[in-house]
Amino acid sequence: MSNLSLKHKPPLVTVLFIQGVVFAVLYLLFPYLEMALGQSIPLFWKMVAQGLIAGGITVLFGLTWVWISAQVLAPPLLMLGIALNLPNWVFPVALALLILVFWNVVSNRVPLYLTNQTTAKALLDLLPKKKGLHFADLGSGLGGTLRYLAKETKGQKFTGLESAPLPFLLSWIIGKLSGRQNLSFRMKNIWTQDLRDYDVVYCFLSPVPMARLYEKALEELKPGSLFISNSFEVPDQKPDQVIEVDDRRKTRLLVWKM
Ligand SMILES: C[S@@+](CC[C@H](N)C(=O)[O-])C[C@H]1O[C@@H](n2cnc3c(N)ncnc32)[C@H](O)[C@@H]1O
Repeated sequence: MSNLSLKHKPPLVTVLFIQGVVFAVLYLLFPYLEMALGQSIPLFWKMVAQGLIAGGITVLFGLTWVWISAQVLAPPLLMLGIALNLPNWVFPVALALLILVFWNVVSNRVPLYLTNQTTAKALLDLLPKKKGLHFADLGSGLGGTLRYLAKETKGQKFTGLESAPLPFLLSWIIGKLSGRQNLSFRMKNIWTQDLRDYDVVYCFLSPVPMARLYEKALEELKPGSLFISNSFEVPDQKPDQVIEVDDRRKTRLLVWKM
């Protein structure tokens, strides 16, 4: 299964394909199952079965927990929505919200998940104490990591770059409400941002962009700057330092000195 060429297709194609195949197989099997049981199976439970089987197969394809959860939840939720007779606009609006949040899943293969507080604290300990230091979070999500660092430091600047519209908007609004002058968020694709103004760049992305991003960092960061990746390695590039964070997911901060 893991060698199927489907594994190398964009995740959206893979998950839709899995749902389609599971639906077709169950559609053929349920009449026999109902005959054997001597009663009909409620549609809701059929959708739960569809979600669980599709989720299980998605695990075999090595997709992330975001996709696996979506696979399990989508069929019963869709069913529930129909049963509750929700107005028609609810489905496109829900889909639009999902797209605005998970904007980078399809194009960049990077979902939204957040740096936890223990890791943010480890990042703070790692920061050079230099006045005027400029720190960038490449793909800043909801901006929580930067808000924490901006609160805990003096005389240093923190910038978040985020291209997913909804997370950017939320981080920008909360950032403005926090009133911190040393904190800013920009709606920007990290590939179009020159990194040479930053002394430290931090990213928590996925394995997919790491080789390209490291190349970009090598070209653009000033000597002595730090490139820090939460969890994801750069192929064939041994980090100068690895911080093992004492959190539940055993986070590793990989640090390269440029
Ligand atoms: C795993 S989240 C990390 C969020 C935040 N850095 C944190 O640690 O809490 C990755 C974020 O990177 C964003 N992202 C992915 N590719 C991007 C790109 N090319 N330009 C800007 N943001 C990107 C995603 O939208 C997502 O919000």
